[in-house]
Amino acid sequence: MNKAPAITAPKISVRGLRKSFGPKLVLDGVDLDIGERESVVVIGGSGTGKSVMLKCILGLIEPDAGSIKIDGAEVTGLSTGERERLMRKFGMLFQGGALFDSLPVWENVAFGLIQGRGIGRAEARKIALQKLAAVGLGPDVSELKPAELSGGMQKRVALARAIAAEPEIIFFDEPTTGLDPIMADVINDLIIKCVKELGATAVSITHDMASTRKIADRVAMIYGGHLRQPLCRAVHPRPRQRPDRDAGPRALTAIRLISPSPASGRGFLEDASPASGREFLEDASPASGRGFRRRL
Ligand SMILES: Nc1ncnc2c1ncn2[C@@H]1O[C@H](COP(=O)(O)OP(=O)(O)O)[C@@H](O)[C@H]1O
Ligand SMILES: [Mg+2]
Repeated sequence: MNKAPAITAPKISVRGLRKSFGPKLVLDGVDLDIGERESVVVIGGSGTGKSVMLKCILGLIEPDAGSIKIDGAEVTGLSTGERERLMRKFGMLFQGGALFDSLPVWENVAFGLIQGRGIGRAEARKIALQKLAAVGLGPDVSELKPAELSGGMQKRVALARAIAAEPEIIFFDEPTTGLDPIMADVINDLIIKCVKELGATAVSITHDMASTRKIADRVAMIYGGHLRQPLCRAVHPRPRQRPDRDAGPRALTAIRLISPSPASGRGFLEDASPASGREFLEDASPASGRGFRRRL
């Protein structure tokens, strides 16, 4: 039984985040800590506020209340100039890609480099081509418009754009939604590569449990406007116990969403690996200060 790891200086720390749209309360006091170089996956039903939460952290939506700290510094209520400086730490893959239809692929990737960093077009194009190559796209696509690409290629372009400026923190909003399993796995591998090679901190939103298993260090669920802490730590199979399975550092055992229990704050995820029969949920609730595993 492992203890939950102590998060000493969270890269991202959210407390009491609240957001309503008119009468509709979406975030009702979200608390979340994410450690440096950690890959956290946020799951939850459609319309539960996952994208709104990321947009609040990015400053694209103004929260009604709460604290958001990046590297220990409060970022709510920043001036425009301070916000622009902060944004350099972030890369974002928006749900649906959000590519500029009128710009060729390379300019989509280079947009932040040219507009945000003031890098010259020739240099920015060079970097864009490198990033496109990193996501498996050749220079032949660089002059095409997004509409000329398949859905999977558009996702890759959006990913290349998210990583173009080598950000410290990357948000992936539904990176594999709408992709076939093979393309989804390509994107999963790219996300893992980003976290490993760029040393980035990653927050991903997904409905895709195969993707969750692959990319998450920890899994959190948003429900009823709450997400108090990442509720489940990824349970990695030990090679000794699972000689027959991929036991890479990010290989989780299978997990399946079960009915949420907001009262207890636990029991959200059931490990349902067909290879191993009944499995464990590892509770890593920092609130309790204890890490423990229990059979579901
Ligand atoms: N800019 C906005 N104005 C009004 N309502 C919004 C806005 N953005 C999101 N919402 C509402 O907030 C809720 C949560 O949205 P969202 O975070 O996009 O859900 P999801 O968890 O599927 O990502 C939804 O009911 C959505 O309609
Ligand atoms: Mg969303």
